[in-house]
Amino acid sequence: MTETVDDTKSAIPVTDPFALFEKWFGEAKETEPNDPNAMALATATPEGRPSVRMVLLKGHGSGLGEGGGFVFYTNAESRKGEEIRANMHASLLFHWKSQRRQIRIEGPLTEVSEEQADAYFHSRPRASQIGSAASDQSRPLPERQVYLDRVAALEERFPEGDIPRPPHWTGFLLCPRAIEFWHDRKYRLHDRRRFTREGPKDAWSNTLLYP
Ligand SMILES: Cc1cc2nc3c(=O)[nH]c(=O)nc-3n(C[C@H](O)[C@H](O)[C@H](O)COP(=O)(O)O)c2cc1C
Repeated sequence: MTETVDDTKSAIPVTDPFALFEKWFGEAKETEPNDPNAMALATATPEGRPSVRMVLLKGHGSGLGEGGGFVFYTNAESRKGEEIRANMHASLLFHWKSQRRQIRIEGPLTEVSEEQADAYFHSRPRASQIGSAASDQSRPLPERQVYLDRVAALEERFPEGDIPRPPHWTGFLLCPRAIEFWHDRKYRLHDRRRFTREGPKDAWSNTLLYP
């Protein structure tokens, strides 16, 4: 194996992890074929049974909430919603294949304000508002037509303008206590740096990790 001198250094800088997220996210937006903001969201029951699914990142940065964070929106009566209500901790994962990069984020969740949830809900196209309002997300659906009928009923009831946001359709802010950056390197000698902090206002510590 031949390594150049540059390869001996970590390519992941010691910096504010929100700034580094911003940089990597920006680069992913340039190269991903679709949905660079798609992330896996892992939740768990209080008994520790995990489940995971994709959601879309709809807000992020050090200015959000008490200590910065990452926001997604969903139906709080869904499976994930029930798990979140019972255990307000989650983990997020981005994997940008085009960048050969992964970011893992862990921390407690808080629900966004009603004003924020309204603002985001009504920023979506009318058809998406109807689709969400008509969906009992994660509940059994006897047949697709039942859902389409509910969509049609809402279209009739609200022939124009915004659809009222269902109260269970909301967003959550994950305030990170750990953000880990992983970058593919030659010969699978990958690069990992994990930033951690105890509380939302504490300074970040960081360490490299064996890959
Ligand atoms: C790329 C992608 C993005 C998605 N974004 C969201 C989202 O932002 N919010 C959401 O509730 N579901 C989203 N979904 C659907 C979820 O993955 C999931 O099927 C749904 O939320 C039900 O999950 P649950 O039964 O674990 O609650 C997305 C799916 C994919 C593939």
